[in-house]
Amino acid sequence: MNKQEIVAVLSDATKNDWLFKEADRIRREYVGDEVHLRGLIEFSNICKRACKYCGLRSPNKNVERYRILKDEILVYAKKAVSMGYRTIVLQSGEDEFYDTDKMCEIIRELKKHDIALTLSIGEKTYEEFKAFKKEGADRYLLRIETTDKNLYNQMHPNASYENRVKCLYDLKSLGYETGTGCLVGLPNQTIDSLADDILFFKELNADMVGIGPFIPHNETPLKDEKQGDFWLALKVMALTRIILPDINIPATTAMETLNPNGRIIALQSGANVVMPNVTSREYRAKYEIYPGKICINENPEQCRGCIEAKIQSIGRTVSKDKGFRNTKKESD
Ligand code: 5AD
Ligand code: FES
Repeated sequence: MNKQEIVAVLSDATKNDWLFKEADRIRREYVGDEVHLRGLIEFSNICKRACKYCGLRSPNKNVERYRILKDEILVYAKKAVSMGYRTIVLQSGEDEFYDTDKMCEIIRELKKHDIALTLSIGEKTYEEFKAFKKEGADRYLLRIETTDKNLYNQMHPNASYENRVKCLYDLKSLGYETGTGCLVGLPNQTIDSLADDILFFKELNADMVGIGPFIPHNETPLKDEKQGDFWLALKVMALTRIILPDINIPATTAMETLNPNGRIIALQSGANVVMPNVTSREYRAKYEIYPGKICINENPEQCRGCIEAKIQSIGRTVSKDKGFRNTKKESD
């Protein structure tokens, strides 16, 4: 599909049913009916950045900040492994407390388990990415957020679009399975730029792509803006599946925040991954990137049971593999 065709599909509501069915068919053909679960540990909500849309932005003083230290991270990881998770995702704000040495130590300890490890800790230098890889990190998530450079610069004070792109290519060249993605429904975002986002995923040859609707947070400069459209986000996700047929695509938590059945709808429109939280309740509400986050009052066991039941209710199964992109063998 070229850009014109992508724009045409995104702009035409009469194509929605076709699009979702086609993405579902391609998902089944290329990655099958198994759903990969990734156990998410949100280990620090401290962030030096000021992204205009994000509730964890440093200027927000109305959030109780926390850090989970190594030993406690290891407890959650162990629990996740015992619940059958084969991937752990470590996510945080851009928190300099966790310097290269601290992160390497955490990675080394986590990789003693037979799991794939994904990092989602923001922009780092090539040398840092390299050090984490050497310790055994397998994957890295870093959404481009938007490829509209003007919009990117408006949304991200004191940040550089070029550096974000560079980080993604650095990760690729270091051999990470590289995840990216975008927000859908940012103020002044155009359909045209969403098409460019999809083409960027293709150009990068992203191994994972996470798409979520923008949800305004009260403690940010975007508090009075309109929220993103669930269906438009779903369309961007479905098109991504069609254009990158063999990648891993999560049914995102933000989708479920806007639609009570959002993750199941996403799993039936191209997605094949879910990332349940595996930390305890005390931290969940504090990791408030956007309001209305699901699973705030649940514990890891409840989420595991809940999501497995949902997956089975649509005739799909929970994978027992690490769930690398299809081209990589599980024995690697
Ligand atoms: N609404 C929806 N998603 C958001 N994110 C950050 N803030 C918001 C918001 N207000 C997403 C970003 C980031 C991911 C961790 O959360 O895309 O990459
Ligand atoms: Fe957390 Fe359903 S996944 S309660």
